[in-house]
Amino acid sequence: MRFPSVANSLSAKLLALTILFVLLAEVLIYTPSIARFRMTYLEERLAAAHIAALSVEAAPDFMVTKALQAKLLAYAGAHVIDLIQPDARVYMLSRPMPPEVDETFDLRGGGNWSLIVDAFCALVERRDRVIRVIDRSPKDKAQQVEITMDERPMIDAMLAFSRSILEVSVAISLIAAGLLFVTLNALLVRPMRRLTESMVAFRRDPDGAPAVEPERRRDEIGVAGNELAAMQGAVRTALRQRERLAALGTAVAKINHDLRGILSTASLLSERLSESSDPEARRVTPRLMASLDRAVELCGQTLSFTRDGALPLRVAPFDLRALTEEVGAQVLATVRPDGARVEAVWSNAVPEGLTIRGDAGQLSRALVNLGRNAVQAGAERVRVAAERRGDRLILTVADNGPGLPPRARDHLFQPFAGSARAGGVGLGLAIAREVARAHGGDLRLFASTGEGSVFAIDLPLAPPPGGARLAPAATQKSFVSH
Ligand SMILES: Nc1ncnc2c1ncn2[C@@H]1O[C@H](COP(=O)(O)OP(=O)(O)OP(=O)(O)O)[C@@H](O)[C@H]1O
Ligand SMILES: [Mg+2]
Repeated sequence: MRFPSVANSLSAKLLALTILFVLLAEVLIYTPSIARFRMTYLEERLAAAHIAALSVEAAPDFMVTKALQAKLLAYAGAHVIDLIQPDARVYMLSRPMPPEVDETFDLRGGGNWSLIVDAFCALVERRDRVIRVIDRSPKDKAQQVEITMDERPMIDAMLAFSRSILEVSVAISLIAAGLLFVTLNALLVRPMRRLTESMVAFRRDPDGAPAVEPERRRDEIGVAGNELAAMQGAVRTALRQRERLAALGTAVAKINHDLRGILSTASLLSERLSESSDPEARRVTPRLMASLDRAVELCGQTLSFTRDGALPLRVAPFDLRALTEEVGAQVLATVRPDGARVEAVWSNAVPEGLTIRGDAGQLSRALVNLGRNAVQAGAERVRVAAERRGDRLILTVADNGPGLPPRARDHLFQPFAGSARAGGVGLGLAIAREVARAHGGDLRLFASTGEGSVFAIDLPLAPPPGGARLAPAATQKSFVSH
């Protein structure tokens, strides 16, 4: 795994986004402020015009000299000034040949929106317009002032104002972005990077990777760090346990292998005891043989269960009814711990001539385990039936035994854990399910009550040729109805 380049890093994205958002905020602030700037500019002009026009009132006959008039107009920055009194008297100052007005702005009724639009139009058009502005005098609201003036000086002032706003914005956005960047980098990006590095190192080498330092923070990053540390600890423990179990499995497999040989020899030799002249020896021989057989079987089953990987299948067509019949014979030959054979009825309800594809040897193993469990639990009748459902075959093994004891039900299908009978290993159901899953199907406990149990093997009619990859146990559920 490679860490992202600088351009793609979280820090760079944060920096770019912060600059963008601060600039956006500045644009939003700039829009009303440029309108307000123009308004203030015009109000100042109107106030100056008012003061200039008042000199007409003070002059004898309301007449001022041309020279004074020119000075007053220059002071107000206007071509023409009209001051209209509440009694409709008008004081007027004007250049000799005032230019023609291009546009008139009446500020008395316009809302904020029209102020913004007018300001932007002025900036965009930037023509040397002559404008007439009408408003109530800022000095005395009862009087009205009208001035005719050049727009250019106002536009120049607006542009200078915009430039200064732009400079301030850029400075603010850089400072804010820098501060935010440094803070977020310290608060988020660096801790995230540390966590990511730890995850990568752990994935590469779970044993050698240094442990994540416990976080003192109490926020989400702190929780994530502590959870990661806990998870790494748990995974490490699980891995070590797995290693130990694997070693143990290998050892068990080896011991089993040899033990099986030894037990087979013992079994062969003990057969001779049945021909012994000692009646006591002849009496105990069947029980001895039964015990030895059980021991051999235990070794065989454990051996095949501890083998690694998926169950290899030799798929071929076979007659299911005939197979069930053979299984019945094996199940009824089961010996009880006291050496006696079980007494039960094996009912084969599989339809005649039902040929399916699968590994007959493995399926027989699964069925023998289910059948034996039933008779060992005390069932007097075991019924095997098969039914096609679409492209699947449902094989049921039903008995009239006492149902599964709670311990068996709680650890259903768990190897070595689910046995609830004396002398049981707890592998029968696990093996039967492994066989069903290897065929692309599953084994489920369909019902278990005081009147009996029903196990159902659900098989595809066309199983995968070499055996199915086993799905994770958690995704396959068994259902039990009580
Ligand atoms: N049909 C059944 N009726 C009643 N109890 C059953 C039935 N099938 C299984 N059980 C219970 O479930 C337990 C687990 O069965 P499983 O076949 O996995 O192990 P086991 O029979 O104890 O040992 P083994 O590995 O020798 O088969 C049994 O001990 C038994 O108590
Ligand atoms: Mg069993």
